[in-house]
Amino acid sequence: MTQCCINPSILSADFVNLEAELQRISNADAVHVDVMDNHFVPNLTIGLPVVQRIQAVSPVPLDAHLMIADADRWAPGFADAGLASVTFHAEASVAPIKLARELRSRGAKAGMALRPATAVEPYLDMLVELDMLLIMTVEPGFGGQAFLDITLPKIRRARAAVEGSGLGVAIQVDGGITEETIARAAEAGANVFVAGSAVYGAEDPSAAIDLLRAKGSR
Ligand code: DX5
Ligand code: ZN
Repeated sequence: MTQCCINPSILSADFVNLEAELQRISNADAVHVDVMDNHFVPNLTIGLPVVQRIQAVSPVPLDAHLMIADADRWAPGFADAGLASVTFHAEASVAPIKLARELRSRGAKAGMALRPATAVEPYLDMLVELDMLLIMTVEPGFGGQAFLDITLPKIRRARAAVEGSGLGVAIQVDGGITEETIARAAEAGANVFVAGSAVYGAEDPSAAIDLLRAKGSR
């Protein structure tokens, strides 16, 4: 059985008690940190100084999801901060291959995200440059949205391409992941799952992580 990774999103956590909120998910594989700039998405969250403080106290590695314009300019600074993984949006980068190489050269895993309506095919040749492909399963910007089933065929095509390439690129899904939807995403080929409201909305976030992991493993 392949165990999947559950990366809770702190977007649904209590922002005034981040350190305690991080301790509640210490059985997670990583913590998903959503950075939004109010340009690439119509919402604003936190920037690098707060991310660095999270990095200093987190019991698990950081998985940053940068929903910011001009990723080529801003993403390398997150890798320099020592984050385990930095994911930029393909739609926000003019030179994604160069950017992925830059992230890796600065010691971070390189992730690239696609909005729900962005096709994966134009990017398949650059899988070799990536450690993770994030297929958004909601429009980025807000937690608590419903999972978009129309993204399932894209997850399937991405999984087939990863298998065909022989590369170990992880396929992450983000948005609307619940105890109910996670099995569909896993069946389609995702193996890293972001869950915000399903984890932090639960009475016991740590138990919610274990349940999601069981339902998302194949
Ligand atoms: C949305 C963010 C997600 C969000 C997911 O744009 O990228 O990480 O926190 O939240 P849920 O799991 O509630 O859909
Ligand atoms: Zn996210």
